[in-house]
Amino acid sequence: MCGIIGCVGRDGETLDVLVHGLSKLEYRGYDSAGVALGGNGVSVTKRSGRIERLRDALEDDPVEGSVGIGHTRWSTHGPPTDANAHPHRDCTGDVAVVHNGIIENYQSIRDELVAAGHDFASDTDTEVVPHLVEAALADGADPESALRQAVDRLEGSFAIAAIVAGTAAVFVARNDSPLVLGLDDDATYLASDVPAFRDYTDRVVYLADGEFARLDADDWTVTDETGQRVQKEVDTVSWDAEETGKSGYDHFMLKEIHEQPRALRQCLRGRVDELSGSVDIEDLGDLSPTGVQFVACGTSYHAALYGAQLYRQAGIPAQTFLASEYATAPPPIGDALVVGVTQSGETADTLSALREARHRGARTLAVTNTVGSTAARECDHTLYIRAGPEIGVAASKTFASQLSALNLLALGTAPVGDAREAIAALRDLPGQVQELLDESRAQEVAQLYQDAGAYFFIGRGHQHPVALEGALKMKEITYKHAEGFAAGELKHGPLALVTENTPVFAMVVGDGEQARKTVGNVKEVEARDAPVVAVTDGQTDVDRYADYVLDVPETHPCASAVLANVQLQLVSYHTAKLLGRSIDKPRNLAKSVTVE
Ligand code: AGP
Ligand code: GLU
Repeated sequence: MCGIIGCVGRDGETLDVLVHGLSKLEYRGYDSAGVALGGNGVSVTKRSGRIERLRDALEDDPVEGSVGIGHTRWSTHGPPTDANAHPHRDCTGDVAVVHNGIIENYQSIRDELVAAGHDFASDTDTEVVPHLVEAALADGADPESALRQAVDRLEGSFAIAAIVAGTAAVFVARNDSPLVLGLDDDATYLASDVPAFRDYTDRVVYLADGEFARLDADDWTVTDETGQRVQKEVDTVSWDAEETGKSGYDHFMLKEIHEQPRALRQCLRGRVDELSGSVDIEDLGDLSPTGVQFVACGTSYHAALYGAQLYRQAGIPAQTFLASEYATAPPPIGDALVVGVTQSGETADTLSALREARHRGARTLAVTNTVGSTAARECDHTLYIRAGPEIGVAASKTFASQLSALNLLALGTAPVGDAREAIAALRDLPGQVQELLDESRAQEVAQLYQDAGAYFFIGRGHQHPVALEGALKMKEITYKHAEGFAAGELKHGPLALVTENTPVFAMVVGDGEQARKTVGNVKEVEARDAPVVAVTDGQTDVDRYADYVLDVPETHPCASAVLANVQLQLVSYHTAKLLGRSIDKPRNLAKSVTVE
């Protein structure tokens, strides 16, 4: 999910180009890095941790080659160790491969390759690729067709680059993970993102899904799945290297908001069968808890509130606790499961609550984004949300992925009956989020209400955690007063704060009782002259009472929270931008809070 760099034709400088490229990809977040240089043979150097560790290793033991590939890894399969870092090799050591993404069917391929005598050196899904290439080469294929044959076996998302000893070229394939080629007169480059090679060239070719490329020093070709040559347009990028760190977005947060469709797709990959309605999640075994306690902080706490609702709807008692308050929680009953929801997997309050739960004899499960994190290591089970690294301090895409993963968790471990509709809705979510991102009018709302004295957010049921999250995001990045409430609670006190200078955001989706009652709350607000922004799928008449409507597509109740939240993310983001705030690093806040 992180970064790839490659180059051909910079003899004597290949290593410098690769390491420079990796440092330009650092902003994407990573946990390990490595390079492979090719010529007559292939040499690989890789280290877990920061690029400096890789640099030190290369200084101690320099390598040379006329072609090279490099990688920053964000682990999805196997912890961030030296052995799991990329590039990965085949048994002969003549093939080296880097990969971003997830290979869904790697286990069956790996079993088959092991049975055929291949030795594996890592836990990764990626390592099947060099071994598949090795097998195809042994059958007489040339390197280009060997990669094509290997990729033909893969299901999932990938950007792959490979080098083969004795061939001064890099071979690449793309499906659902970014890859762009860079062209110069006597050298060629490839990377996940232009900044990695922008210092050397401004001529680029964007690969599309299903395309393959071969890069030589003075030539390049792009082919489709069947091997037919594809005529590609060569673009010239106008911006310079400095501007590109965030892939053209002004802030990491905006980039990450826009990465949600991909993050949501990754979360589902290989885990659901829409036809049978079954959910199969690695590492959960046959967990079927009779009760669930959630512990979490901040945004993750809001996701946890939502997770507990899902279990309760399935008839399983479930409660959510702020991790820092868990000491006062009742002990988990019987074989109750304690679920820690934590993006980083390193939040001290959450780790401490999970330790307390273990001490009380409970089984624990971490729902986290970070492979190899403390939460993942210490819990009995782990469910990875697979959102990819999040750099902005304000959680955005990880909240969406937490909601999606918690749906999978509930569907996979609780007796929910026919899950087909829910799974279909989760499958449709990435497309709907994309549509919403393309058409959102949140920026107009931000402009209208940027001077407001305070912002309130209301919702019921699944939209209650969304209201809380909307308010947290608003206060976190705009520094303005914002509160989220269960819509029904408004009249029990907070209504006293509502004036013409306090916009109220009301989440109203579906046409059920909760939606209709929220419309009633909207009327109460409207009667006090407060501006109302309805986030709605249009199934009620809330638009009659709202000053502004932010549309969300109609969907299954399990998916609507993600959609409504995207609108609120955008309103907060644009408000903070208009106010000139430090969006990616809000004052006083840290991405990972490792003290209690
Ligand atoms: C949200 O935008 C914040 N970054 C914060 O509330 C965060 O969700 C909280 O600190 C918990 O972090 P975690 O998910 O890494 O445990
Ligand atoms: N799935 C691969 C791994 O865990 C690649 C991860 C990445 O995209 O960095 O090694």
